[in-house]
Amino acid sequence: MVPPARLLLVLQWLLFSTASALNDEFSWHKIAPSEDLVWHECYSGQQCARLKVPLDYANPDGASAAIAMRRIHSVVPHHSPEYRGPILVNPGGPGASGVDLIQQFGDNISAVVGPEFDIVGFDPRGISRSTPRASFFENRAEQNLFWSSPGNSMAVSSSENALARKWAQGMLAGRLAAERDDGTLHFINSDYTARDMLRIMQAHGRDKIQYWGFSYGSVLGATFAAMFPDKVGRLVIDGVMDSENYYASEWSKNLIDTEKVWTAFLNGCVAAGPTKCPIYSPTVAEIQTTVDDLYSSLRTRPIPVRTATSYAIVDYDLMRNTVFASLYKPYASFPTLARALADLSAGNATGLYRMSAAPEFKCSCDADEFSFENVNDGGHAVRCNDGKRISASFEDVEKHYENLLANSSWADVWMGPRLRCMTWPEFPQTNFQSPFVANTSFPLLVVGNTADPVTPLWGAKKMSQGFAGSVLLTQDSIGHCSLAAPSLCTQKHIRKYFRDGELPEAGTVCSTDGGPFDTLLEGEEEEEREAQAVLGGSSAEDRTLLEAVRALSRAWDVPLGF
Ligand SMILES: *[C@@H]1O[C@H](CO)[C@@H](O)[C@H](O)[C@H]1NC(C)=O
Ligand SMILES: *[C@@H]1O[C@H](CO)[C@@H](O)[C@H](O)[C@H]1NC(C)=O
Ligand SMILES: *[C@@H]1O[C@H](CO)[C@@H](O)[C@H](O)[C@H]1NC(C)=O
Ligand SMILES: *[C@@H]1O[C@H](CO)[C@@H](O)[C@H](O)[C@H]1NC(C)=O
Repeated sequence: MVPPARLLLVLQWLLFSTASALNDEFSWHKIAPSEDLVWHECYSGQQCARLKVPLDYANPDGASAAIAMRRIHSVVPHHSPEYRGPILVNPGGPGASGVDLIQQFGDNISAVVGPEFDIVGFDPRGISRSTPRASFFENRAEQNLFWSSPGNSMAVSSSENALARKWAQGMLAGRLAAERDDGTLHFINSDYTARDMLRIMQAHGRDKIQYWGFSYGSVLGATFAAMFPDKVGRLVIDGVMDSENYYASEWSKNLIDTEKVWTAFLNGCVAAGPTKCPIYSPTVAEIQTTVDDLYSSLRTRPIPVRTATSYAIVDYDLMRNTVFASLYKPYASFPTLARALADLSAGNATGLYRMSAAPEFKCSCDADEFSFENVNDGGHAVRCNDGKRISASFEDVEKHYENLLANSSWADVWMGPRLRCMTWPEFPQTNFQSPFVANTSFPLLVVGNTADPVTPLWGAKKMSQGFAGSVLLTQDSIGHCSLAAPSLCTQKHIRKYFRDGELPEAGTVCSTDGGPFDTLLEGEEEEEREAQAVLGGSSAEDRTLLEAVRALSRAWDVPLGF
């Protein structure tokens, strides 16, 4: 999936760089890639491996690529009859790291599907710890300079010339990619990643895949299912993109439900009251006016912020991107956003700045360490290699923006990913791009939220139609992907699907357990009471599941898609 600009990029960068700093004691350099799956101890109690696969599947005996994986081992031994095999997970982007997903959420995901599975995160080729890794820059400092430049973070609504600046910056990205290509760039695409996934399953001694993909991970899952329909064991796509729209490089069907999420923020705030929602007013219209005034005010009077370790200018773009990013993960961010906006209307921009996750600038500039760090370049390589070539004419870009804007007021924060493919090198495009129609060896489970800011339910319905026997499970919630909101009902269906091969009945709609403003305030025990009420007399298994889905929704942070 795809996010707004610098903020998100920076956020993603910060997240990943923090993650790698924490994991310093283990080095991926120590693992020699092998064709057989060899697991090494890593990250206290987990296992890591690097699987050797062909760089070019058209020339399988030529050079190789190495796919980095990290897993949480099942609690049962692999020879036990209770062992249910590996589930591959992908966190989307494209460009996000499955290895990092395991670090952030692996335990909770394992608690959701059940501990008899291995949960295996992999970095798709081009990304982070897999090689070849896409990198358009010589080092981290150079990279950071590029991604933090204003052309990346600007919302198109920011000023008259914002779109033109983004357009120019986008052209630069394609050029740098071409200049720094060492000959491996065009092997980085979803078609080849789907083939890598098949190799990963085969290396596990399995004929069929078990997979759960979020956001762009739904494109990867649909691509796998369309290319290898007889290799589907269990396949869940969650937060579903219209794969055809993705491969057409359009990015024009993502924002159908975005406004619903924002409206839910306003309604939720009115319902929550001033204690839980500091920017509260008695009506939605009044809150909206307050927020509009904040946007206008920042446009003309940005606010400088100085913290102990950093500084920044909180401006219109930062606010726009931060509000948009919070729509992805309402349970993790709505209460904080309400506080930050209230502070801002009192003249204090520190909270909003903190939410934007702009990093303290730290540059290790250690080339060795840098070589496995996640950088944004990987996502761009996948997106641009996958998709149809697009015009670099400014007039065409303007037209695209106008169409998008006619359908969504959030178009201004959705131009980035497409623009950076404009001057992409002209590789022959032989990769799989369609059709997404197949009779799979096991039916897909397709999961969509009623109000997902970037992968509308429309996409889940559309993709489900192409895969015979697939079932659409609808979660009546806001947020990006099912795990953004806590729902015992949804996650029990997903568990049943993986564990027992049981699909929900067609038309199943799951509600959530609690709302985004239901956080525990100091001294309150309301949430605990609620938890009891939800569970009233239920099993220990359900308690663990509820704990896991709550933890996931409060920390949910899949990368924004660009
Ligand atoms: C969920 O993850 C959090 C944070 O890693 C952890 O503290 C908690 O124990 C986990 N809960 C379950 C049920 O997996
Ligand atoms: C501004 O808000 C931050 C919390 O985000 C707080 O720590 C700080 O004290 C506030 N500054 C002023 C001047 O009130
Ligand atoms: C916007 O909506 C109109 C009318 O529904 C449709 O014709 C048009 O193709 C849409 N534009 C985009 C970019 O999806
Ligand atoms: C799926 O199976 C049906 C019934 O056997 C057949 O009509 C259809 O053509 C198949 N679709 C594909 C994509 O193979």
